[in-house]
Formats: sequence, C-alpha cells, structure tokens
Amino acid sequence: MSQQTLILLKPDAVQRRLAGEIIGRFERKGLRLAGLKLVQAPRELAEKHYAVHKGKPFYESLLAFLTSGPTVAMVWEGREAVVVGRNLMGLTDGAKAPPGTIRGDFALSVQNNLVHGSDSPENAALEIALWFAPNELVKYESVDGKWVG
Ligand code: RTP
Ligand code: MG
Repeated sequence: MSQQTLILLKPDAVQRRLAGEIIGRFERKGLRLAGLKLVQAPRELAEKHYAVHKGKPFYESLLAFLTSGPTVAMVWEGREAVVVGRNLMGLTDGAKAPPGTIRGDFALSVQNNLVHGSDSPENAALEIALWFAPNELVKYESVDGKWVG
C-alpha cells in the first residue's frame, strides 16, 4: 500500500554536506519525492516533533541539536514508505547501525545520527502536518512507476 513518510536531514547532515548523498539513497530505492524544503526549526516545532521524548535525559540536548542549524524536511511516498525509510536509515545509534544504512555508513553518534524517519503511518501523518502545509506537497505520477512500484 502506498504510504507517505516524513524524512528529516538533521542539521549535522546539512553541515557535513551529506544532503545530496542521503537524498540519492531515497531516490534510488524508488520512493517518490512529494515535498522538500530547508527549515531553520524554531524550538516550538522541535518540541512538537519530539514530544514523545519529553522528560527523557537527552530531550534538551536533542532540541538544541535539531534547532542548531538548517534541516531539510522531506516527504517521500511509495509502497511501505515508512518501513522502507527506517530500513534505509538504520538503527538509532550510528555505532550499531549496519554498514549499507545511512547511519551505519556516515554516523558514529547516538544523537547526531543525520536523519529522522517516521516510525508509523499514523505518526507520519502527524509529523507531515507539523512540517508542511498541504499546498507544499505535490501530487504527480512518476514516469517509472510501473517499473518500480
Ligand atoms: P528519529 O526519531 O530521529 O527518527 O530517531 P529514532 O526513531 O531512531 O530514535 P528515537 O528513539 O526516536 O530518538 C530520537 C532522536 O533522539 C536522539 N537520541 N539521543 N542520547 C541518547 O540516548 C539519545 N537517544 C536518542 C537521536 O538523535 C534520535 O534519533
Ligand atoms: Mg523516533
């Protein structure tokens, strides 16, 4: 079933000039880009995005990290997009993420792990609404859809 997922390239990805490398992995997998923008996240947005982690020891540090510079916010869609995105990213801790995944190939840190991906279709819908206005998402047919989908 076609799904949408919110993918963020966190400020470390932008600062380390890995945005193109990471976007390429989502493209090559066959997902379709439905929205993309560069955002300097205000604290309020970061708080809402990571509300589930409020109260945890790393919460303040995580908010400081997500608001420390520009984030590339994207919506990718396609078959099983949520789990596909999580698999492309790898485990949260870069040191434990397997090679071949984004975090496994480029991250060593637990916090500075380059990407965020929605963890369920329900959370994807909430997160997309947080980062994008409806008119910022583009609907179109991808010409290779019959080969990839
Ligand atoms: P994300 O939400 O960003 O896609 O990451 P995730 O599901 O793999 O991991 P999650 O448990 O949701 O944690 C959210 C982000 O918080 C930072 N973190 N720091 N210091 C720590 O122990 C710790 N644990 C998590 C990471 O940036 C993680 O991606
Ligand atoms: Mg998470």
